[in-house]
Amino acid sequence: MAKRRRRWRHRCCSASPSLAAVPVAVALLLLLALADAAAFHVHVQRHDLDRMNKPAVRSIYSADGDIIDCVPRHKQRALDHPLLANHTVQPPPLHRMPASSLQQSISRSSRRAWQTWHHAGHCPRGTVAVRRTTAADVQRARSLALFGRKNKRQRRPLPPDVVTGNGHEHAIAYTASEVYGARATISVWAPAIDEANGFSLSQLWILSGSFNGSDLNSIEAGWQVSPELYGDSRPRLFTYWTSDAYEATGCYNALCPGFVQTSSRIAIGASISPVSSVGGPQYDMTLLVWKDPKLGNWWLSYGDGAGGLVGYWPAELFTHLSDHATMVEWGGEVVNTHPAGAHTATQMGSGHFADEGFGRAAYFRNLETVDADNSLAAVPLEAIQTMAEDSGCYDIRKAYDDDGRGGGWGSHFYYGGPGHNPSSCP
Ligand SMILES: *[C@@H]1O[C@H](CO)[C@@H](O)[C@H](O)[C@H]1NC(C)=O
Ligand SMILES: *[C@@H]1O[C@H](CO)[C@@H](O)[C@H](O)[C@H]1NC(C)=O
Repeated sequence: MAKRRRRWRHRCCSASPSLAAVPVAVALLLLLALADAAAFHVHVQRHDLDRMNKPAVRSIYSADGDIIDCVPRHKQRALDHPLLANHTVQPPPLHRMPASSLQQSISRSSRRAWQTWHHAGHCPRGTVAVRRTTAADVQRARSLALFGRKNKRQRRPLPPDVVTGNGHEHAIAYTASEVYGARATISVWAPAIDEANGFSLSQLWILSGSFNGSDLNSIEAGWQVSPELYGDSRPRLFTYWTSDAYEATGCYNALCPGFVQTSSRIAIGASISPVSSVGGPQYDMTLLVWKDPKLGNWWLSYGDGAGGLVGYWPAELFTHLSDHATMVEWGGEVVNTHPAGAHTATQMGSGHFADEGFGRAAYFRNLETVDADNSLAAVPLEAIQTMAEDSGCYDIRKAYDDDGRGGGWGSHFYYGGPGHNPSSCP
Protein backbone atom coordinates (compact mmCIF):
# COMPACT_ATOMS: atom_id res chain seq x y z
CA MET A 1 0.00 0.00 0.00
CA ALA A 2 2.68 2.48 1.05
CA LYS A 3 4.64 1.81 -2.11
CA ARG A 4 1.70 2.48 -4.38
CA ARG A 5 0.94 5.75 -2.62
CA ARG A 6 4.51 6.90 -2.95
CA ARG A 7 4.57 6.17 -6.66
CA TRP A 8 1.35 8.08 -7.18
CA ARG A 9 2.62 11.14 -5.38
CA HIS A 10 5.65 11.08 -7.64
CA ARG A 11 3.46 10.88 -10.74
CA CYS A 12 1.24 13.70 -9.53
CA CYS A 13 3.97 16.12 -8.66
CA SER A 14 6.21 15.70 -11.63
CA ALA A 15 3.29 15.99 -14.08
CA SER A 16 3.02 18.97 -16.37
CA PRO A 17 0.87 21.71 -14.88
CA SER A 18 -0.75 22.37 -18.29
CA LEU A 19 -4.58 22.14 -18.40
CA ALA A 20 -4.46 19.51 -21.13
CA ALA A 21 -2.94 17.12 -18.61
CA VAL A 22 -5.97 17.25 -16.32
CA PRO A 23 -8.32 14.90 -18.28
CA VAL A 24 -5.38 12.55 -18.76
CA ALA A 25 -4.77 12.55 -15.04
CA VAL A 26 -8.46 11.92 -14.35
CA ALA A 27 -8.51 9.02 -16.84
CA LEU A 28 -5.36 7.65 -15.21
CA LEU A 29 -6.95 7.87 -11.79
CA LEU A 30 -10.04 6.03 -13.00
CA LEU A 31 -7.89 3.35 -14.60
CA LEU A 32 -5.89 2.94 -11.42
CA ALA A 33 -9.07 2.65 -9.38
CA LEU A 34 -10.47 0.02 -11.77
CA ALA A 35 -7.20 -1.89 -11.77
CA ASP A 36 -7.21 -1.87 -7.97
CA ALA A 37 -10.76 -3.18 -7.78
CA ALA A 38 -10.01 -5.89 -10.33
CA ALA A 39 -6.84 -6.90 -8.55
CA PHE A 40 -8.58 -7.39 -5.21
CA HIS A 41 -11.88 -8.89 -6.43
CA VAL A 42 -13.32 -7.74 -3.14
CA HIS A 43 -16.62 -5.99 -3.18
CA VAL A 44 -17.38 -5.32 0.45
CA GLN A 45 -21.08 -5.32 1.12
CA ARG A 46 -22.70 -3.62 4.04
CA HIS A 47 -24.10 -6.94 5.25
CA ASP A 48 -20.62 -8.53 5.26
CA LEU A 49 -19.44 -5.86 7.68
CA ASP A 50 -22.60 -6.15 9.75
CA ARG A 51 -21.96 -9.88 10.06
CA MET A 52 -18.44 -9.19 11.34
CA ASN A 53 -19.15 -6.23 13.59
CA LYS A 54 -21.83 -6.88 16.17
CA PRO A 55 -23.87 -3.91 17.43
CA ALA A 56 -22.01 -2.02 20.15
CA VAL A 57 -23.31 -0.27 23.23
CA ARG A 58 -20.35 2.11 23.09
CA SER A 59 -17.59 2.80 20.57
CA ILE A 60 -14.18 4.18 21.44
CA TYR A 61 -12.10 6.13 18.93
CA SER A 62 -8.43 5.45 19.56
CA ALA A 63 -5.57 7.77 18.55
CA ASP A 64 -4.06 4.95 16.44
CA GLY A 65 -7.10 5.05 14.12
CA ASP A 66 -8.85 1.99 15.59
CA ILE A 67 -12.47 1.94 16.62
CA ILE A 68 -13.06 -0.30 19.63
CA ASP A 69 -16.66 -1.53 19.90
CA CYS A 70 -18.02 -2.55 23.30
CA VAL A 71 -20.21 -5.54 22.37
CA PRO A 72 -22.50 -7.27 24.90
CA ARG A 73 -20.63 -10.44 25.96
CA HIS A 74 -23.46 -12.77 24.97
CA LYS A 75 -23.82 -11.22 21.51
CA GLN A 76 -20.19 -11.53 20.40
CA ARG A 77 -19.38 -13.03 17.03
CA ALA A 78 -17.58 -16.06 18.49
CA LEU A 79 -20.95 -17.59 19.29
CA ASP A 80 -21.91 -17.68 15.58
CA HIS A 81 -19.69 -20.76 15.27
CA PRO A 82 -21.90 -23.82 14.54
CA LEU A 83 -20.08 -25.88 17.18
CA LEU A 84 -20.97 -23.23 19.77
CA ALA A 85 -24.72 -23.22 19.05
CA ASN A 86 -25.46 -24.28 22.64
CA HIS A 87 -22.42 -22.71 24.26
CA THR A 88 -22.74 -20.55 27.35
CA VAL A 89 -20.01 -17.94 27.84
CA GLN A 90 -17.98 -19.14 30.82
CA PRO A 91 -16.84 -16.90 33.67
CA PRO A 92 -13.07 -16.73 34.09
CA PRO A 93 -11.98 -19.76 36.19
CA LEU A 94 -9.85 -17.57 38.44
CA HIS A 95 -9.33 -20.16 41.16
CA ARG A 96 -8.11 -22.65 38.58
CA MET A 97 -5.59 -20.27 37.00
CA PRO A 98 -2.09 -21.76 37.40
CA ALA A 99 0.24 -19.64 39.49
CA SER A 100 3.62 -18.74 38.11
CA SER A 101 6.59 -20.45 39.69
CA LEU A 102 8.48 -17.18 39.47
CA GLN A 103 9.17 -14.99 42.45
CA GLN A 104 9.06 -11.82 40.45
CA SER A 105 7.51 -11.75 37.04
CA ILE A 106 8.32 -8.09 36.46
CA SER A 107 11.98 -7.70 35.73
CA ARG A 108 13.76 -4.58 36.91
CA SER A 109 15.32 -4.11 33.51
CA SER A 110 12.14 -3.95 31.46
CA ARG A 111 8.80 -2.14 31.52
CA ARG A 112 5.24 -3.02 30.59
CA ALA A 113 3.68 -2.47 27.19
CA TRP A 114 -0.10 -2.02 27.16
CA GLN A 115 -2.89 -1.21 24.70
CA THR A 116 -2.99 2.18 22.96
CA TRP A 117 -6.78 2.60 22.99
CA HIS A 118 -6.91 2.68 26.81
CA HIS A 119 -6.06 6.37 26.61
CA ALA A 120 -9.36 7.03 24.83
CA GLY A 121 -11.89 5.30 27.09
CA HIS A 122 -13.09 2.00 28.50
CA CYS A 123 -15.82 -0.55 27.87
CA PRO A 124 -18.60 -1.05 30.42
CA ARG A 125 -19.02 -4.21 32.48
CA GLY A 126 -20.78 -7.05 30.67
CA THR A 127 -19.29 -6.09 27.30
CA VAL A 128 -16.21 -7.24 25.43
CA ALA A 129 -13.80 -4.86 23.67
CA VAL A 130 -13.59 -5.68 19.97
CA ARG A 131 -11.55 -3.94 17.27
CA ARG A 132 -14.00 -2.95 14.53
CA THR A 133 -13.35 -4.36 11.04
CA THR A 134 -13.54 -1.64 8.38
CA ALA A 135 -14.23 -1.92 4.66
CA ALA A 136 -10.58 -0.96 4.08
CA ASP A 137 -9.42 -3.88 6.26
CA VAL A 138 -11.36 -6.33 4.09
CA GLN A 139 -10.29 -4.68 0.84
CA ARG A 140 -6.63 -5.27 1.66
CA ALA A 141 -7.27 -9.04 1.80
CA ARG A 142 -7.13 -10.91 -1.49
CA SER A 143 -10.69 -12.10 -1.06
CA LEU A 144 -13.49 -11.97 1.46
CA ALA A 145 -13.05 -15.70 2.09
CA LEU A 146 -9.34 -15.22 2.83
CA PHE A 147 -9.83 -12.25 5.13
CA GLY A 148 -8.35 -13.05 8.52
CA ARG A 149 -7.16 -16.50 7.42
CA LYS A 150 -3.71 -17.77 6.71
CA ASN A 151 -3.49 -18.53 3.01
CA LYS A 152 -2.00 -21.81 1.78
CA ARG A 153 1.43 -20.27 1.41
CA GLN A 154 1.28 -19.17 5.02
CA ARG A 155 0.56 -22.63 6.39
CA ARG A 156 3.24 -24.43 8.29
CA PRO A 157 2.01 -27.85 9.34
CA LEU A 158 5.55 -29.12 9.70
CA PRO A 159 7.63 -29.95 12.72
CA PRO A 160 10.03 -27.16 13.64
CA ASP A 161 13.17 -28.99 12.60
CA VAL A 162 11.99 -29.29 9.01
CA VAL A 163 13.10 -26.47 6.76
CA THR A 164 9.87 -25.51 5.07
CA GLY A 165 10.77 -23.49 1.99
CA ASN A 166 7.21 -22.14 1.85
CA GLY A 167 8.32 -18.53 2.02
CA HIS A 168 8.10 -18.41 5.78
CA GLU A 169 11.15 -18.17 7.99
CA HIS A 170 11.43 -18.75 11.69
CA ALA A 171 13.74 -18.40 14.63
CA ILE A 172 12.09 -20.43 17.34
CA ALA A 173 12.63 -22.37 20.53
CA TYR A 174 10.53 -25.45 21.24
CA THR A 175 9.95 -28.23 23.68
CA ALA A 176 8.17 -31.51 22.97
CA SER A 177 6.30 -33.00 25.90
CA GLU A 178 2.82 -33.44 27.34
CA VAL A 179 1.80 -29.91 28.32
CA TYR A 180 -1.37 -28.10 29.31
CA GLY A 181 -0.27 -24.57 28.58
CA ALA A 182 2.67 -22.20 28.30
CA ARG A 183 3.75 -18.79 29.50
CA ALA A 184 6.43 -16.32 28.45
CA THR A 185 7.26 -12.63 28.63
CA ILE A 186 7.96 -11.20 25.20
CA SER A 187 9.60 -7.89 24.32
CA VAL A 188 7.55 -5.73 21.95
CA TRP A 189 9.07 -4.11 18.86
CA ALA A 190 7.88 -2.60 15.59
CA PRO A 191 9.94 -4.44 12.94
CA ALA A 192 9.98 -3.00 9.42
CA ILE A 193 8.00 -4.93 6.81
CA ASP A 194 9.46 -5.05 3.32
CA GLU A 195 6.60 -6.71 1.38
CA ALA A 196 2.99 -5.66 0.75
CA ASN A 197 1.61 -8.98 2.01
CA GLY A 198 4.42 -9.58 4.46
CA PHE A 199 4.34 -9.71 8.22
CA SER A 200 6.62 -10.16 11.18
CA LEU A 201 5.35 -11.82 14.30
CA SER A 202 6.51 -13.02 17.69
CA GLN A 203 4.31 -15.59 19.36
CA LEU A 204 3.85 -18.86 21.13
CA TRP A 205 2.32 -21.95 19.56
CA ILE A 206 0.52 -24.68 21.49
CA LEU A 207 0.38 -27.73 19.21
CA SER A 208 -1.13 -31.20 19.12
CA GLY A 209 -1.80 -33.70 16.35
CA SER A 210 0.38 -34.87 13.53
CA PHE A 211 2.52 -32.57 11.45
CA ASN A 212 2.22 -34.78 8.36
CA GLY A 213 -1.55 -35.17 8.31
CA SER A 214 -4.41 -32.70 8.27
CA ASP A 215 -5.35 -32.88 11.93
CA LEU A 216 -2.85 -30.49 13.52
CA ASN A 217 -4.47 -28.43 16.28
CA SER A 218 -2.77 -25.13 16.98
CA ILE A 219 -3.42 -22.27 19.38
CA GLU A 220 -1.32 -19.19 18.80
CA ALA A 221 -0.93 -15.81 20.48
CA GLY A 222 1.59 -12.99 20.39
CA TRP A 223 2.18 -9.68 18.68
CA GLN A 224 2.40 -9.10 14.96
CA VAL A 225 3.04 -6.28 12.51
CA SER A 226 0.88 -6.87 9.43
CA PRO A 227 0.10 -3.95 7.12
CA GLU A 228 -2.23 -6.26 5.17
CA LEU A 229 -4.33 -7.20 8.18
CA TYR A 230 -4.37 -3.85 10.01
CA GLY A 231 -3.37 -1.16 7.50
CA ASP A 232 -0.45 0.12 9.57
CA SER A 233 2.98 -0.78 10.97
CA ARG A 234 2.13 -1.05 14.66
CA PRO A 235 2.65 -4.21 16.71
CA ARG A 236 -0.71 -5.67 17.68
CA LEU A 237 -1.88 -8.35 20.09
CA PHE A 238 -3.14 -11.27 18.04
CA THR A 239 -4.52 -14.78 18.40
CA TYR A 240 -4.90 -17.62 15.92
CA TRP A 241 -6.32 -21.11 16.03
CA THR A 242 -6.87 -24.07 13.72
CA SER A 243 -8.07 -27.63 14.28
CA ASP A 244 -7.22 -28.99 10.82
CA ALA A 245 -3.67 -27.90 10.00
CA TYR A 246 -4.80 -24.49 8.68
CA GLU A 247 -7.10 -26.02 6.03
CA ALA A 248 -10.70 -24.94 6.67
CA THR A 249 -10.90 -23.92 10.31
CA GLY A 250 -9.56 -21.00 12.24
CA CYS A 251 -8.51 -17.42 11.74
CA TYR A 252 -6.79 -14.48 13.33
CA ASN A 253 -8.34 -12.71 16.30
CA ALA A 254 -12.14 -12.54 16.17
CA LEU A 255 -12.19 -12.39 12.37
CA CYS A 256 -14.14 -15.63 12.33
CA PRO A 257 -16.33 -17.12 15.06
CA GLY A 258 -14.51 -19.27 17.61
CA PHE A 259 -12.46 -17.45 20.24
CA VAL A 260 -14.81 -16.41 23.07
CA GLN A 261 -13.79 -13.15 24.68
CA THR A 262 -14.57 -12.27 28.28
CA SER A 263 -12.51 -9.11 28.75
CA SER A 264 -13.83 -5.57 28.50
CA ARG A 265 -10.27 -4.25 28.91
CA ILE A 266 -8.23 -6.07 26.31
CA ALA A 267 -9.07 -5.96 22.61
CA ILE A 268 -7.50 -8.56 20.36
CA GLY A 269 -5.97 -6.94 17.28
CA ALA A 270 -5.45 -3.65 19.13
CA SER A 271 -2.07 -1.96 18.99
CA ILE A 272 0.42 -2.22 21.83
CA SER A 273 2.46 0.70 23.13
CA PRO A 274 5.01 1.81 23.99
CA VAL A 275 7.43 -0.34 21.96
CA SER A 276 11.07 -1.08 22.73
CA SER A 277 13.87 0.87 21.08
CA VAL A 278 17.50 0.03 20.41
CA GLY A 279 19.57 1.31 23.32
CA GLY A 280 16.39 2.67 24.95
CA PRO A 281 13.77 1.25 27.31
CA GLN A 282 12.66 -2.35 26.74
CA TYR A 283 8.91 -2.96 26.92
CA ASP A 284 7.49 -6.45 27.24
CA MET A 285 4.22 -8.30 27.72
CA THR A 286 3.39 -11.59 29.41
CA LEU A 287 1.20 -14.18 27.71
CA LEU A 288 -0.19 -17.30 29.31
CA VAL A 289 -2.29 -19.91 27.50
CA TRP A 290 -3.59 -22.73 29.65
CA LYS A 291 -6.26 -25.39 29.66
CA ASP A 292 -8.96 -25.16 32.30
CA PRO A 293 -8.66 -28.68 33.82
CA LYS A 294 -12.36 -28.79 34.63
CA LEU A 295 -14.09 -27.61 31.44
CA GLY A 296 -11.31 -28.10 28.91
CA ASN A 297 -11.35 -24.57 27.48
CA TRP A 298 -7.98 -23.03 26.62
CA TRP A 299 -7.69 -19.59 28.26
CA LEU A 300 -5.50 -16.66 27.26
CA SER A 301 -4.16 -14.07 29.64
CA TYR A 302 -2.25 -10.94 28.68
CA GLY A 303 -0.32 -9.15 31.41
CA ASP A 304 -0.07 -10.22 35.02
CA GLY A 305 -2.69 -11.83 37.19
CA ALA A 306 -6.40 -12.37 36.87
CA GLY A 307 -7.16 -8.93 35.42
CA GLY A 308 -5.37 -9.98 32.27
CA LEU A 309 -7.72 -12.79 31.31
CA VAL A 310 -8.82 -12.13 27.73
CA GLY A 311 -11.03 -15.10 26.89
CA TYR A 312 -10.79 -18.69 25.73
CA TRP A 313 -10.77 -21.10 22.85
CA PRO A 314 -13.70 -23.41 23.67
CA ALA A 315 -12.97 -27.13 24.01
CA GLU A 316 -15.61 -27.77 21.31
CA LEU A 317 -13.30 -26.34 18.62
CA PHE A 318 -10.56 -28.94 18.95
CA THR A 319 -9.81 -32.61 18.51
CA HIS A 320 -6.30 -33.41 19.82
CA LEU A 321 -6.12 -30.31 21.99
CA SER A 322 -9.20 -31.41 23.87
CA ASP A 323 -6.73 -33.49 25.85
CA HIS A 324 -3.27 -31.91 25.97
CA ALA A 325 -0.59 -30.34 23.78
CA THR A 326 2.43 -32.27 22.60
CA MET A 327 4.64 -29.34 21.66
CA VAL A 328 5.14 -25.69 22.53
CA GLU A 329 7.03 -23.27 20.33
CA TRP A 330 8.10 -19.68 21.09
CA GLY A 331 9.70 -17.26 18.65
CA GLY A 332 9.48 -15.22 15.48
CA GLU A 333 8.17 -15.75 11.97
CA VAL A 334 8.39 -13.58 8.85
CA VAL A 335 7.30 -13.86 5.22
CA ASN A 336 10.07 -13.99 2.62
CA THR A 337 8.97 -14.09 -1.02
CA HIS A 338 12.30 -12.75 -2.30
CA PRO A 339 10.91 -9.42 -3.50
CA ALA A 340 13.19 -7.95 -6.16
CA GLY A 341 15.13 -11.24 -6.34
CA ALA A 342 16.93 -10.86 -3.01
CA HIS A 343 16.02 -12.08 0.47
CA THR A 344 13.36 -9.89 2.05
CA ALA A 345 14.52 -7.03 4.27
CA THR A 346 11.55 -7.61 6.58
CA GLN A 347 12.91 -7.53 10.12
CA MET A 348 12.28 -10.10 12.82
CA GLY A 349 12.13 -8.97 16.45
CA SER A 350 14.14 -5.77 16.75
CA GLY A 351 15.87 -6.30 13.40
CA HIS A 352 19.07 -7.16 15.30
CA PHE A 353 20.74 -10.54 15.73
CA ALA A 354 20.54 -12.49 18.98
CA ASP A 355 24.22 -11.93 19.80
CA GLU A 356 23.63 -8.22 20.29
CA GLY A 357 21.83 -9.06 23.54
CA PHE A 358 19.82 -6.93 25.94
CA GLY A 359 18.72 -3.51 24.72
CA ARG A 360 19.32 -4.37 21.06
CA ALA A 361 17.93 -7.86 20.36
CA ALA A 362 14.33 -8.97 21.01
CA TYR A 363 13.76 -11.59 23.71
CA PHE A 364 11.38 -14.15 25.23
CA ARG A 365 12.09 -14.58 28.95
CA ASN A 366 10.89 -16.81 31.78
CA LEU A 367 9.71 -19.70 29.59
CA GLU A 368 7.28 -21.89 31.52
CA THR A 369 4.87 -24.70 30.71
CA VAL A 370 1.78 -25.97 32.55
CA ASP A 371 1.98 -29.58 33.69
CA ALA A 372 -0.73 -32.20 34.30
CA ASP A 373 -1.21 -30.86 37.86
CA ASN A 374 -2.19 -27.46 36.45
CA SER A 375 0.93 -25.77 37.78
CA LEU A 376 3.42 -23.67 35.91
CA ALA A 377 6.99 -24.91 35.90
CA ALA A 378 10.09 -23.27 34.48
CA VAL A 379 11.28 -25.11 31.39
CA PRO A 380 14.84 -26.38 31.95
CA LEU A 381 17.23 -24.96 29.39
CA GLU A 382 18.26 -28.44 28.22
CA ALA A 383 14.61 -29.28 27.39
CA ILE A 384 14.53 -26.41 24.90
CA GLN A 385 15.72 -26.82 21.34
CA THR A 386 16.18 -23.97 18.90
CA MET A 387 15.79 -23.72 15.15
CA ALA A 388 16.49 -21.00 12.59
CA GLU A 389 16.17 -21.93 8.91
CA ASP A 390 18.69 -19.35 7.75
CA SER A 391 20.75 -17.98 10.60
CA GLY A 392 22.47 -15.48 8.32
CA CYS A 393 19.13 -13.70 8.08
CA TYR A 394 17.55 -14.35 11.51
CA ASP A 395 19.00 -16.29 14.43
CA ILE A 396 18.29 -17.38 17.98
CA ARG A 397 20.41 -17.94 21.11
CA LYS A 398 19.06 -19.53 24.27
CA ALA A 399 20.44 -18.93 27.77
CA TYR A 400 19.66 -19.34 31.46
CA ASP A 401 19.72 -16.65 34.09
CA ASP A 402 19.13 -16.92 37.82
CA ASP A 403 19.67 -14.03 40.17
CA GLY A 404 20.10 -16.45 43.09
CA ARG A 405 16.80 -15.46 44.71
CA GLY A 406 14.45 -17.36 42.40
CA GLY A 407 14.07 -14.32 40.17
CA GLY A 408 15.92 -13.46 37.00
CA TRP A 409 15.02 -14.42 33.48
CA GLY A 410 15.19 -18.21 33.88
CA SER A 411 15.22 -19.98 30.52
CA HIS A 412 15.11 -17.28 27.89
CA PHE A 413 16.35 -16.47 24.41
CA TYR A 414 17.28 -13.62 22.16
CA TYR A 415 16.22 -13.94 18.52
CA GLY A 416 15.65 -12.02 15.30
CA GLY A 417 17.63 -10.24 12.64
CA PRO A 418 17.53 -7.79 9.76
CA GLY A 419 16.74 -10.20 6.92
CA HIS A 420 18.51 -9.04 3.77
CA ASN A 421 22.09 -7.92 4.34
CA PRO A 422 25.14 -8.17 2.07
CA SER A 423 27.40 -10.09 4.45
CA SER A 424 25.18 -13.02 5.49
CA CYS A 425 21.75 -12.82 3.79
CA PRO A 426 21.94 -11.99 0.07
C1 LIG B 1 -27.69 -27.92 20.42
O1 LIG B 1 -28.83 -28.40 21.07
C2 LIG B 1 -29.79 -28.94 20.18
C3 LIG B 1 -31.03 -29.29 20.99
O2 LIG B 1 -30.70 -30.04 22.13
C4 LIG B 1 -29.21 -30.13 19.45
O3 LIG B 1 -30.14 -30.66 18.54
C5 LIG B 1 -27.96 -29.69 18.72
O4 LIG B 1 -27.33 -30.82 18.11
C6 LIG B 1 -27.01 -29.00 19.65
N1 LIG B 1 -25.88 -28.46 18.86
C7 LIG B 1 -24.61 -28.58 19.20
C8 LIG B 1 -23.60 -27.97 18.26
O5 LIG B 1 -24.26 -29.15 20.20
C1 LIG C 1 2.53 -39.42 10.17
O1 LIG C 1 3.68 -39.81 10.88
C2 LIG C 1 3.43 -40.79 11.89
C3 LIG C 1 4.72 -41.06 12.64
O2 LIG C 1 5.63 -40.01 12.52
C4 LIG C 1 2.89 -42.06 11.25
O3 LIG C 1 2.61 -43.01 12.27
C5 LIG C 1 1.64 -41.74 10.47
O4 LIG C 1 1.19 -42.88 9.79
C6 LIG C 1 1.90 -40.61 9.46
N1 LIG C 1 0.65 -40.22 8.85
C7 LIG C 1 0.54 -39.92 7.56
C8 LIG C 1 -0.82 -39.50 7.09
O5 LIG C 1 1.47 -39.97 6.79
